[in-house]
Amino acid sequence: MERIVILTGAGISAESGLATFRASDGLWEAHRVEDVATPEGFARDPALVQRFYNDRRQRAAEVAPNAAHLALAKLQRDYPGEVLIVTQNVDALHEAAGAEVLHMHGSLDGALCAACGHRWPAPMKMQVGEPCPACGAPAGRPDIVWFGEMPYHMEEIFARLSRCSYFVAIGTSGNVYPAAGFVQEADAAGAHTLELNLEASTSASHFAEARQGRATELVPPWVEEMLAEARR
Ligand code: APR
Repeated sequence: MERIVILTGAGISAESGLATFRASDGLWEAHRVEDVATPEGFARDPALVQRFYNDRRQRAAEVAPNAAHLALAKLQRDYPGEVLIVTQNVDALHEAAGAEVLHMHGSLDGALCAACGHRWPAPMKMQVGEPCPACGAPAGRPDIVWFGEMPYHMEEIFARLSRCSYFVAIGTSGNVYPAAGFVQEADAAGAHTLELNLEASTSASHFAEARQGRATELVPPWVEEMLAEARR
């Protein structure tokens, strides 16, 4: 039985109607990363940053999981071996599909106090100076991992990569580390590595196998393959 680690990125949520980052009509086309996805940008213009994430939180609440999210949840439920899903996405579509996932880049549903580190469920609209329920400081920010900050769950993820036998990356462009380096970690552990993406990603050459197409077309048949393999 395989020990599977799955990494997902914005591409898996694209067909649910959420914009990716690096497409020509993507989120980074309309905004400068430094303005909305760094602690310095937040310090400079908190209103802009809160508005950016308030809009994304609103949009994420309007969409539903697609066939790719549902298939991964099925794999996690029915596969007799280990299935760890790690996502770079801050939407909750994996959970809505019934899966358990590690959010390495945080979540739109969370608020974080920049003063004391306390976390609480984010209101749909966060305000500038959102008060922390624990320490009272007007320092509430989205619980999103920005550039220059340490992603979450790294110790657990690297431990699982170091003993996985199958690694698959879905809908991620391979531009952002440490996630872009997971394939090399899995490869070093002797795992089979597979990329499922609309196009060859930046780290495509590190994968043993690559399939190109939409997530809703590639992921369900791959899940059926893995389940059929396990039944043999
Ligand atoms: N099916 C499969 N792949 C798709 C689809 C689809 N329907 N639509 C787009 N893609 C692919 C794109 O070709 C691209 O390679 O998904 C990838 C999305 O890449 P990015 O927009 O760069 O998103 P991601 O890799 O998740 O970004 C990583 O960057 O800005 C940060 O923190 C942010 O978590 C994000 C990180």
